[in-house]
Amino acid sequence: MANISVRAEVDYEVQVGGDWKIFLDNILALHKKILLIAPSFIVEAASLQAITRAGNLFLFVTPDGEAQKDFLTLERIWTLLGREEFGRTDAIVAIGGGATTDLGGFAAATWLRGIAWYAIPTTLAGMVDASVGGKTGINTSAGKNLVGSFYSPRAVCADISWLNSLSDRDFSAGLAEVIKVGYIRDLSILEILQSAEGISGARAAALQLVSKSVAVKSSVVSADFKEGRLREILNFGHTLGHALEKSSAYSLRHGEAVSVGLHFAALLSESELELSGEVTLQLRSLLAKFGLPVGVEQGSYDFEELLSLMKGDKKSRDGQIRFIGVKSPGEPGWIDSATPELLRACYEKILQ
Ligand SMILES: NC(=O)c1ccc[n+]([C@@H]2O[C@H](COP(=O)([O-])OP(=O)(O)OC[C@H]3O[C@@H](n4cnc5c(N)ncnc54)[C@H](O)[C@@H]3O)[C@@H](O)[C@H]2O)c1
Repeated sequence: MANISVRAEVDYEVQVGGDWKIFLDNILALHKKILLIAPSFIVEAASLQAITRAGNLFLFVTPDGEAQKDFLTLERIWTLLGREEFGRTDAIVAIGGGATTDLGGFAAATWLRGIAWYAIPTTLAGMVDASVGGKTGINTSAGKNLVGSFYSPRAVCADISWLNSLSDRDFSAGLAEVIKVGYIRDLSILEILQSAEGISGARAAALQLVSKSVAVKSSVVSADFKEGRLREILNFGHTLGHALEKSSAYSLRHGEAVSVGLHFAALLSESELELSGEVTLQLRSLLAKFGLPVGVEQGSYDFEELLSLMKGDKKSRDGQIRFIGVKSPGEPGWIDSATPELLRACYEKILQ
């Protein structure tokens, strides 16, 4: 097991390879009342109903997937917290994928202006990305993740055994974020994935991949908690990725959209950051090796709509879309002045 420290408003540790049941027992000893938040799949798999029959442990079962990150679900959590008189010394534990930890963390951030919360991520995306860094939030009609708060958990336990039940599709979607981390900071991640035999090889290396990815994310967010500039490098692949996710009405997994976005950002990097075309080809084949999409079908998206969605990206300044690219593997760069013509030319290269 590795304990990785993250610096934030209050520093915390991410246990990679810990046992989530021991982790939960330790939390139970620290607080008088605990609310567990989990989707029904996790509630059944972990027999959470049985655990919550004892003591001051309460359970809130969320809808599955992205649907739980909505205001009505959040309001139902607040109602429960109010009914059970949760106070400042009580806590929330979110067990589930990134959607659940985003929701649970935001419920904790907003109740009594902030109570303690803990994350037990159960997906690869949740372990390497969503539960580390303190971004919490929900989706609204205005857009995805636009309502939220920087609010760190007290501790995170990434118990790798959860990944055994994860579908190959969800595992691969998480790998897109792992590959991203490799290209912006840690080449040893790329070596592991290059030599892995497909998805099963990557599953076998999960502990190493999660440890390395969390180490990179924690060092970046520790240096720039509120996304001044450095933290933006974690957005490699996300500018087009978020636009595709929204435009596909979330039929694409977050990691799948990011995968296409990574390929696109690499093509842009060739023009704007002098990235060698060979690196783009390597990145493209690594993504494809794990069944991730690297392009979009002709006619399936409206480029003008994607452009307008990208203008709404949090990194945009005065209408100028900004991207994170790479100058070479391990060396990220900022692309601040790509013209619409260049964006269209790169988009045409990813049409299939
Ligand atoms: N806060 C952040 O910094 C941050 C970073 C990245 C992503 N996110 C958010 O995270 C979400 C995406 O994460 P995700 O892919 O984990 O989404 P998710 O929580 O929707 O989980 C994906 C699917 O996996 C299932 N699942 C969860 N654990 C499982 C397990 N152990 N075995 C089998 N199935 C399991 C879920 O039921 C769901 O259907 C998005 O909402 C995204 O915005 C947040």
